[in-house]
Amino acid sequence: MFKEQKVLLSGIQPTGIMTIGNYIGAVQNWLKLQDDYLSVYFIADLHALTIKQDPTEFRQRALSFYAQYIAFGLDPEKSILYFQSHVPEHTKLSWALNCFTYVGEAQRMTQFKDKSAKHQDNINMGLMDYPVLMAADILLYQSDLVPVGIDQKQHLELTRDIAMRFNNRFGDVFTIPDGYIPKNGAKIKSLQNPLMKMSKSDPDPNATVSVIEDADSIMRKFKRAVTDSGNEIIFDENKPGISNLISIYSEMTGKTIKETENEFVGKGYGDFKKAVGEAVVEKLRPVREEYERLIKDKAYLLETAKKGAEKARYIASRTVKKVYKKLGLVEQE
Ligand code: TRP
Repeated sequence: MFKEQKVLLSGIQPTGIMTIGNYIGAVQNWLKLQDDYLSVYFIADLHALTIKQDPTEFRQRALSFYAQYIAFGLDPEKSILYFQSHVPEHTKLSWALNCFTYVGEAQRMTQFKDKSAKHQDNINMGLMDYPVLMAADILLYQSDLVPVGIDQKQHLELTRDIAMRFNNRFGDVFTIPDGYIPKNGAKIKSLQNPLMKMSKSDPDPNATVSVIEDADSIMRKFKRAVTDSGNEIIFDENKPGISNLISIYSEMTGKTIKETENEFVGKGYGDFKKAVGEAVVEKLRPVREEYERLIKDKAYLLETAKKGAEKARYIASRTVKKVYKKLGLVEQE
Protein backbone atom coordinates (compact mmCIF):
# COMPACT_ATOMS: atom_id res chain seq x y z
CA MET A 1 0.00 0.00 0.00
CA PHE A 2 1.79 3.08 1.30
CA LYS A 3 5.05 1.46 2.20
CA GLU A 4 8.54 2.41 1.25
CA GLN A 5 10.12 -0.27 3.37
CA LYS A 6 9.12 -3.74 4.41
CA VAL A 7 7.64 -3.82 7.89
CA LEU A 8 8.66 -6.05 10.74
CA LEU A 9 6.48 -6.09 13.84
CA SER A 10 6.61 -7.77 17.19
CA GLY A 11 5.08 -7.33 20.60
CA ILE A 12 5.81 -8.64 24.04
CA GLN A 13 3.49 -8.84 27.00
CA PRO A 14 4.85 -7.07 30.07
CA THR A 15 4.53 -10.11 32.29
CA GLY A 16 7.20 -12.19 33.97
CA ILE A 17 10.72 -11.22 32.98
CA MET A 18 12.70 -10.91 29.77
CA THR A 19 15.08 -13.82 29.98
CA ILE A 20 18.36 -14.66 28.35
CA GLY A 21 16.25 -17.10 26.31
CA ASN A 22 14.33 -14.13 24.87
CA TYR A 23 17.60 -12.35 24.29
CA ILE A 24 19.18 -15.22 22.43
CA GLY A 25 16.07 -16.31 20.57
CA ALA A 26 14.56 -12.97 19.68
CA VAL A 27 16.44 -9.82 20.47
CA GLN A 28 19.64 -10.65 18.64
CA ASN A 29 17.63 -11.26 15.48
CA TRP A 30 15.72 -8.02 15.89
CA LEU A 31 18.93 -6.07 16.01
CA LYS A 32 20.13 -7.69 12.82
CA LEU A 33 16.85 -6.93 11.06
CA GLN A 34 16.57 -3.36 12.29
CA ASP A 35 18.33 -1.91 9.26
CA ASP A 36 16.46 -3.89 6.63
CA TYR A 37 12.93 -3.30 7.84
CA LEU A 38 10.85 -0.59 9.31
CA SER A 39 10.68 -2.19 12.74
CA VAL A 40 7.66 -1.81 14.97
CA TYR A 41 7.99 -3.04 18.56
CA PHE A 42 5.39 -2.54 21.19
CA ILE A 43 4.60 -3.48 24.74
CA ALA A 44 1.42 -5.55 24.51
CA ASP A 45 -0.09 -4.16 27.69
CA LEU A 46 -3.69 -4.64 26.56
CA HIS A 47 -3.01 -8.31 25.93
CA ALA A 48 -1.58 -8.63 29.42
CA LEU A 49 -4.88 -7.44 30.90
CA THR A 50 -6.44 -10.77 29.96
CA ILE A 51 -4.76 -12.11 33.09
CA LYS A 52 -5.32 -10.39 36.43
CA GLN A 53 -2.61 -7.79 37.12
CA ASP A 54 -1.69 -5.75 40.13
CA PRO A 55 -1.93 -2.19 38.73
CA THR A 56 1.12 -0.72 40.45
CA GLU A 57 3.37 -3.60 39.63
CA PHE A 58 1.97 -3.83 36.10
CA ARG A 59 2.71 -0.19 35.33
CA GLN A 60 6.29 -0.52 36.59
CA ARG A 61 6.88 -3.68 34.68
CA ALA A 62 5.56 -2.22 31.44
CA LEU A 63 7.91 0.74 31.77
CA SER A 64 10.77 -1.57 32.66
CA PHE A 65 10.14 -3.66 29.55
CA TYR A 66 10.10 -0.53 27.44
CA ALA A 67 13.45 0.56 28.90
CA GLN A 68 14.82 -2.91 28.23
CA TYR A 69 13.84 -2.66 24.56
CA ILE A 70 15.93 0.47 24.25
CA ALA A 71 18.76 -0.96 26.34
CA PHE A 72 18.97 -3.93 23.98
CA GLY A 73 19.86 -1.55 21.19
CA LEU A 74 16.50 -0.98 19.55
CA ASP A 75 16.80 2.59 18.40
CA PRO A 76 13.71 4.76 19.00
CA GLU A 77 14.77 7.01 16.14
CA LYS A 78 15.04 4.20 13.62
CA SER A 79 12.29 1.93 14.89
CA ILE A 80 8.84 2.55 16.30
CA LEU A 81 8.73 1.69 19.99
CA TYR A 82 5.53 2.24 21.91
CA PHE A 83 2.85 0.98 24.27
CA GLN A 84 -0.10 -0.73 22.63
CA SER A 85 -2.52 1.09 24.93
CA HIS A 86 -1.26 4.46 23.63
CA VAL A 87 -2.46 3.70 20.12
CA PRO A 88 -6.26 3.39 20.09
CA GLU A 89 -6.20 2.08 16.51
CA HIS A 90 -5.34 -1.36 17.89
CA THR A 91 -8.72 -1.68 19.55
CA LYS A 92 -10.50 0.07 16.71
CA LEU A 93 -9.27 -2.46 14.21
CA SER A 94 -9.74 -5.39 16.52
CA TRP A 95 -13.45 -4.62 16.78
CA ALA A 96 -13.79 -4.74 13.02
CA LEU A 97 -11.79 -7.96 12.84
CA ASN A 98 -13.96 -9.50 15.54
CA CYS A 99 -16.75 -9.38 13.04
CA PHE A 100 -14.62 -11.47 10.66
CA THR A 101 -13.58 -14.09 13.17
CA TYR A 102 -15.74 -17.06 14.06
CA VAL A 103 -16.29 -18.01 17.67
CA GLY A 104 -15.32 -21.55 16.77
CA GLU A 105 -11.95 -20.39 15.49
CA ALA A 106 -11.19 -18.48 18.65
CA GLN A 107 -12.28 -21.38 20.84
CA ARG A 108 -10.00 -23.76 19.00
CA MET A 109 -6.84 -21.79 19.85
CA THR A 110 -4.50 -23.86 21.97
CA GLN A 111 -3.47 -20.88 24.05
CA PHE A 112 -7.10 -20.06 24.84
CA LYS A 113 -7.69 -23.62 25.95
CA ASP A 114 -4.51 -23.70 28.03
CA LYS A 115 -5.12 -20.37 29.70
CA SER A 116 -8.76 -21.21 30.35
CA ALA A 117 -7.67 -24.37 32.09
CA LYS A 118 -5.08 -22.49 34.11
CA HIS A 119 -7.31 -19.56 35.11
CA GLN A 120 -10.68 -21.22 35.52
CA ASP A 121 -11.97 -18.44 37.72
CA ASN A 122 -11.26 -15.83 35.06
CA ILE A 123 -12.15 -17.06 31.59
CA ASN A 124 -12.93 -13.57 30.35
CA MET A 125 -13.91 -12.38 26.87
CA GLY A 126 -10.48 -10.80 26.45
CA LEU A 127 -8.84 -14.17 26.76
CA MET A 128 -10.85 -15.49 23.86
CA ASP A 129 -10.39 -12.30 21.88
CA TYR A 130 -6.64 -12.25 22.45
CA PRO A 131 -5.70 -13.54 18.98
CA VAL A 132 -8.01 -11.07 17.27
CA LEU A 133 -6.32 -8.15 19.02
CA MET A 134 -3.05 -9.70 17.95
CA ALA A 135 -4.27 -9.85 14.35
CA ALA A 136 -5.13 -6.16 14.61
CA ASP A 137 -1.64 -5.39 15.96
CA ILE A 138 -0.10 -7.06 12.96
CA LEU A 139 -2.44 -5.97 10.18
CA LEU A 140 -2.57 -2.32 11.24
CA TYR A 141 1.00 -1.77 10.06
CA GLN A 142 0.77 -3.91 6.91
CA SER A 143 3.46 -6.06 8.49
CA ASP A 144 5.47 -8.36 6.27
CA LEU A 145 7.38 -10.23 8.90
CA VAL A 146 6.37 -11.12 12.43
CA PRO A 147 8.98 -12.71 14.68
CA VAL A 148 7.24 -14.86 17.27
CA GLY A 149 7.90 -17.86 19.42
CA ILE A 150 6.61 -21.19 18.24
CA ASP A 151 3.72 -20.97 20.74
CA GLN A 152 2.32 -18.02 18.76
CA LYS A 153 2.36 -19.74 15.38
CA GLN A 154 -1.30 -20.66 15.57
CA HIS A 155 -2.25 -17.04 16.27
CA LEU A 156 -0.28 -15.96 13.26
CA GLU A 157 -2.10 -18.46 11.08
CA LEU A 158 -5.40 -17.12 12.34
CA THR A 159 -4.21 -13.61 11.50
CA ARG A 160 -3.49 -14.68 7.96
CA ASP A 161 -6.91 -16.34 7.67
CA ILE A 162 -8.68 -13.23 8.90
CA ALA A 163 -6.68 -11.01 6.55
CA MET A 164 -7.37 -13.20 3.55
CA ARG A 165 -11.04 -13.40 4.41
CA PHE A 166 -11.20 -9.62 4.55
CA ASN A 167 -9.18 -9.17 1.36
CA ASN A 168 -11.34 -11.67 -0.50
CA ARG A 169 -14.36 -9.59 0.19
CA PHE A 170 -12.95 -6.05 -0.03
CA GLY A 171 -9.84 -6.19 -2.21
CA ASP A 172 -6.24 -5.80 -1.20
CA VAL A 173 -6.57 -4.09 2.14
CA PHE A 174 -4.10 -6.05 4.24
CA THR A 175 -0.62 -7.35 3.63
CA ILE A 176 -0.56 -11.06 4.43
CA PRO A 177 2.17 -11.41 7.05
CA ASP A 178 4.75 -14.14 7.34
CA GLY A 179 5.84 -15.52 10.66
CA TYR A 180 9.47 -15.68 11.54
CA ILE A 181 10.22 -18.30 14.10
CA PRO A 182 13.87 -18.18 15.12
CA LYS A 183 15.47 -21.59 15.11
CA ASN A 184 17.63 -21.12 18.16
CA GLY A 185 14.91 -19.50 20.28
CA ALA A 186 13.32 -22.51 21.87
CA LYS A 187 16.75 -23.96 22.34
CA ILE A 188 17.39 -22.23 25.64
CA LYS A 189 15.95 -24.36 28.40
CA SER A 190 15.11 -23.86 32.05
CA LEU A 191 18.16 -24.06 34.32
CA GLN A 192 16.18 -26.23 36.71
CA ASN A 193 14.45 -28.48 34.21
CA PRO A 194 16.38 -28.59 30.97
CA LEU A 195 13.61 -30.50 29.25
CA MET A 196 11.44 -27.40 29.43
CA LYS A 197 11.88 -24.13 27.57
CA MET A 198 13.17 -21.21 29.66
CA SER A 199 9.86 -19.45 30.18
CA LYS A 200 9.49 -15.77 31.04
CA SER A 201 6.74 -16.65 33.50
CA ASP A 202 8.39 -19.59 35.26
CA PRO A 203 7.55 -19.21 38.96
CA ASP A 204 10.89 -20.73 40.02
CA PRO A 205 13.40 -17.85 40.03
CA ASN A 206 16.31 -20.30 39.76
CA ALA A 207 15.02 -21.58 36.44
CA THR A 208 15.45 -18.34 34.55
CA VAL A 209 17.95 -15.54 34.21
CA SER A 210 16.78 -12.04 33.46
CA VAL A 211 18.70 -9.87 31.01
CA ILE A 212 19.03 -7.15 33.64
CA GLU A 213 19.99 -9.34 36.54
CA ASP A 214 22.99 -8.48 38.69
CA ALA A 215 26.22 -10.42 38.30
CA ASP A 216 26.15 -12.22 41.66
CA SER A 217 22.70 -13.52 41.10
CA ILE A 218 23.57 -14.72 37.59
CA MET A 219 26.64 -16.56 38.88
CA ARG A 220 24.63 -18.16 41.66
CA LYS A 221 21.96 -19.43 39.28
CA PHE A 222 24.46 -21.03 36.91
CA LYS A 223 26.22 -22.64 39.81
CA ARG A 224 22.91 -24.21 40.82
CA ALA A 225 21.92 -25.16 37.29
CA VAL A 226 20.79 -28.77 37.00
CA THR A 227 23.25 -30.95 35.10
CA ASP A 228 23.34 -34.60 34.17
CA SER A 229 25.35 -37.58 35.30
CA GLY A 230 28.93 -37.59 34.09
CA ASN A 231 31.28 -34.65 34.03
CA GLU A 232 32.43 -34.08 30.46
CA ILE A 233 31.61 -30.89 28.60
CA ILE A 234 30.13 -32.56 25.55
CA PHE A 235 26.92 -31.70 23.72
CA ASP A 236 24.69 -34.74 23.80
CA GLU A 237 20.94 -34.89 23.28
CA ASN A 238 20.69 -37.42 26.07
CA LYS A 239 22.28 -34.91 28.45
CA PRO A 240 19.97 -31.92 28.22
CA GLY A 241 21.44 -30.09 31.22
CA ILE A 242 25.01 -29.75 30.04
CA SER A 243 23.86 -29.32 26.43
CA ASN A 244 21.74 -26.35 27.44
CA LEU A 245 24.70 -24.74 29.20
CA ILE A 246 26.87 -25.34 26.15
CA SER A 247 24.23 -23.67 23.94
CA ILE A 248 24.08 -20.66 26.23
CA TYR A 249 27.86 -20.36 26.33
CA SER A 250 28.10 -20.67 22.58
CA GLU A 251 25.44 -17.99 22.00
CA MET A 252 26.97 -15.62 24.50
CA THR A 253 30.55 -15.92 23.25
CA GLY A 254 29.95 -16.50 19.54
CA LYS A 255 31.98 -19.70 19.73
CA THR A 256 30.66 -22.84 18.06
CA ILE A 257 29.61 -25.91 20.03
CA LYS A 258 32.74 -27.71 18.85
CA GLU A 259 35.02 -24.85 19.89
CA THR A 260 33.33 -24.79 23.26
CA GLU A 261 33.82 -28.52 23.76
CA ASN A 262 37.49 -28.21 22.80
CA GLU A 263 38.03 -25.30 25.14
CA PHE A 264 36.81 -27.32 28.12
CA VAL A 265 38.43 -30.68 27.53
CA GLY A 266 39.59 -32.03 30.85
CA LYS A 267 37.50 -29.53 32.85
CA GLY A 268 34.49 -30.50 34.94
CA TYR A 269 30.94 -29.21 35.28
CA GLY A 270 31.88 -26.87 38.13
CA ASP A 271 34.45 -24.96 36.09
CA PHE A 272 32.20 -24.84 33.10
CA LYS A 273 29.20 -23.48 34.99
CA LYS A 274 31.37 -20.69 36.29
CA ALA A 275 32.55 -19.90 32.77
CA VAL A 276 28.97 -19.84 31.45
CA GLY A 277 27.92 -17.47 34.22
CA GLU A 278 30.83 -15.17 33.46
CA ALA A 279 30.08 -15.19 29.74
CA VAL A 280 26.47 -14.20 30.41
CA VAL A 281 27.49 -11.46 32.83
CA GLU A 282 29.98 -10.02 30.34
CA LYS A 283 27.72 -10.17 27.31
CA LEU A 284 24.83 -8.51 29.12
CA ARG A 285 26.87 -5.92 30.97
CA PRO A 286 26.23 -3.10 28.46
CA VAL A 287 22.51 -3.89 28.39
CA ARG A 288 22.31 -3.84 32.16
CA GLU A 289 24.22 -0.59 32.46
CA GLU A 290 22.15 1.14 29.83
CA TYR A 291 18.99 -0.16 31.47
CA GLU A 292 20.02 1.18 34.88
CA ARG A 293 20.55 4.60 33.34
CA LEU A 294 17.26 4.60 31.42
CA ILE A 295 14.99 3.34 34.15
CA LYS A 296 15.97 6.31 36.31
CA ASP A 297 14.96 8.70 33.54
CA LYS A 298 11.21 8.30 33.47
CA ALA A 299 10.69 11.61 31.68
CA TYR A 300 12.82 10.43 28.78
CA LEU A 301 11.00 7.10 28.60
CA LEU A 302 7.57 8.72 28.57
CA GLU A 303 8.60 11.29 26.00
CA THR A 304 10.10 8.60 23.77
CA ALA A 305 6.98 6.48 24.15
CA LYS A 306 4.85 9.46 23.17
CA LYS A 307 6.85 10.02 20.00
CA GLY A 308 6.71 6.31 19.26
CA ALA A 309 2.93 6.29 19.62
CA GLU A 310 2.64 9.28 17.30
CA LYS A 311 4.66 7.54 14.61
CA ALA A 312 2.62 4.39 15.09
CA ARG A 313 -0.68 6.25 14.84
CA TYR A 314 0.35 7.87 11.60
CA ILE A 315 0.51 4.46 9.94
CA ALA A 316 -2.20 2.72 11.95
CA SER A 317 -4.83 5.39 11.44
CA ARG A 318 -4.54 5.07 7.67
CA THR A 319 -5.31 1.39 7.86
CA VAL A 320 -8.26 1.91 10.18
CA LYS A 321 -9.63 4.62 7.93
CA LYS A 322 -9.42 2.39 4.92
CA VAL A 323 -11.00 -0.56 6.71
CA TYR A 324 -13.86 1.50 8.13
CA LYS A 325 -14.53 2.93 4.72
CA LYS A 326 -14.56 -0.49 3.08
CA LEU A 327 -17.02 -1.64 5.72
CA GLY A 328 -19.38 1.16 4.83
CA LEU A 329 -19.12 3.18 8.03
CA VAL A 330 -19.91 6.83 7.49
CA GLU A 331 -16.67 8.81 7.24
CA GLN A 332 -15.77 11.42 9.83
CA GLU A 333 -15.05 14.89 8.56
N1 TRP B 1 1.07 -12.87 21.94
C1 TRP B 1 2.47 -12.50 21.89
C2 TRP B 1 3.22 -13.30 22.94
O1 TRP B 1 2.70 -13.61 23.97
C3 TRP B 1 2.67 -11.03 22.11
C4 TRP B 1 2.05 -10.25 21.01
C5 TRP B 1 0.93 -9.48 21.06
C6 TRP B 1 2.52 -10.21 19.67
N2 TRP B 1 0.67 -8.93 19.85
C7 TRP B 1 1.62 -9.37 18.97
C8 TRP B 1 3.61 -10.78 19.02
C9 TRP B 1 1.80 -9.11 17.62
C10 TRP B 1 3.77 -10.52 17.65
C11 TRP B 1 2.85 -9.70 16.97
O2 TRP B 1 4.36 -13.63 22.72
